[in-house]
Amino acid sequence: MIDQREKEYLLAVADAIPRELMVISMDHIICAANKFAKDIYGEDIIGKRCYEIYFGMDSPCIKCKINQVVEGEDKRQEGSFADLYFEDKVTLFPMIGPDGKQCVVRLDFDITAMDQLEKKLHLSNTFLHNLILSAVDAVIAADKKGKIFIFNDAASKILGYPREDALSCVDIRDIYPGDMAREVMKKLRNKDHGGPGKLKSYRVELLTKQGELIPVELNASIIYENGVEVATIGFFHDLRETINMEKELEETRMQLYQSSKMAALGNLAAGVAHQLNNPLSSIILFSELLLEEELEDRIKQDLTRILENAKRCKDTVKELLEFSRQGGGTPFFADLNKAIDRTLFLLEKHSLFKNIKIIKKYDLGLPEIKCDVQQLNHVFMNIIWNAAQAMKGKGTLYIITQKLPGEKVKIEFCDTGPGIDEEILPNIFDPFFSTKKQGDGLGLGLSIAYRIVENHKGKIRAYNKEQGGACFEIILPVNRG
Ligand SMILES: Nc1ncnc2c1ncn2[C@@H]1O[C@H](COP(=O)(O)OP(=O)(O)OP(=O)(O)O)[C@@H](O)[C@H]1O
Ligand SMILES: [Mg+2]
Repeated sequence: MIDQREKEYLLAVADAIPRELMVISMDHIICAANKFAKDIYGEDIIGKRCYEIYFGMDSPCIKCKINQVVEGEDKRQEGSFADLYFEDKVTLFPMIGPDGKQCVVRLDFDITAMDQLEKKLHLSNTFLHNLILSAVDAVIAADKKGKIFIFNDAASKILGYPREDALSCVDIRDIYPGDMAREVMKKLRNKDHGGPGKLKSYRVELLTKQGELIPVELNASIIYENGVEVATIGFFHDLRETINMEKELEETRMQLYQSSKMAALGNLAAGVAHQLNNPLSSIILFSELLLEEELEDRIKQDLTRILENAKRCKDTVKELLEFSRQGGGTPFFADLNKAIDRTLFLLEKHSLFKNIKIIKKYDLGLPEIKCDVQQLNHVFMNIIWNAAQAMKGKGTLYIITQKLPGEKVKIEFCDTGPGIDEEILPNIFDPFFSTKKQGDGLGLGLSIAYRIVENHKGKIRAYNKEQGGACFEIILPVNRG
């Protein structure tokens, strides 16, 4: 039972509420009102009709809600508000008065609006939540102790942690390699990297669950509450695709540069070959004719020397013509495994190959490719010969063929020699580039190979293996069209 003192408290509470609070009987008479209501409508409102004091009318409002509240029409169904009836700006609810009679409490407090506001807040929170979760970039937020409390799907995808794991047992320091987390925080607190508490377009690496390092661009900020640092949030953009694209672009640029150099040399070679071909043919023809005559031995010897040297010149001219594409034969479909074997058959007889082990890993399902196989033999020969020279006649040469998706084949030659100096790597396909002493190399082998592969609409590149040795990779389309 409620005692007198408690009653007094409750009355004081009603008066302390800075809202209109009234009790209205079913015949619209104001039975009670708190101080706030009396301050507005006058001390004498008790006993007056509600429609009089609110609207100055002499009969109840047409849309009076009092009966509806009591009879239960339009009531909200859910929760503890089941007995409330909502007007536009006030809240009405039924009550039994001290005389046992039904009446209605009127509170000028718009619970509906509050409720709607709450709903809107909830909706916008859900929207923001979904926005973060489905963002393309990884979004990760952590509190001051490093505990992660936001970790979206993209973050899971990049870092390999399921969200639940990241939220429960991953520390923000775990996703950075070494001391990087501290470095990032230092930069964030320094105003030089995008303003205080901000870090813009900073390239870092993230450490995945599997221990892989992923390059990312980080935009981060510190979250403050009343000027106090409470958390950090980071947006991480995966740079792997961009870096690959940059690399491809650079490679294409290099190839273009290479191609233009080759084209210039091709024209020059074609011109020189054309000029030399006819006089050389004459020298050979007349030397041969002369040799058929009765001559002194001494003259015969000299003539033979002239003939041999002229033939060597003719071979070089042939080489130049091939280089400038004028010596190409008709393309047909050929088996490259067999073509490589044929080249090896010729080379293996040479003493340089005596102590070279050749390990072949051929793709037996390698499709035949449309090519000028004579020219490709030339490519293989130059590369294999270079490898043997680099290994100084001792080592292992791996030859690998492989069918690639998209109607392509790959041929790789890897040796166990000293590899190619990174500094000269961009130059080795240049005409007349050689590191060999005079007489050992002209520096033409790889430039010819480059031109031939290019004519086949293929690609050739050289690189060094981590464990040492040089590799030459050739990719050719099955049908060059
Ligand atoms: N397998 C290899 N290992 C190390 N360096 C190599 C290898 N293949 C080529 N090179 C380097 O590339 C340079 C150019 O090779 P390229 O075949 O074009 O010319 P060359 O062998 O010097 O002369 P040529 O082929 O005209 O006789 C070589 O001088 C050498 O420095
Ligand atoms: Mg060579």
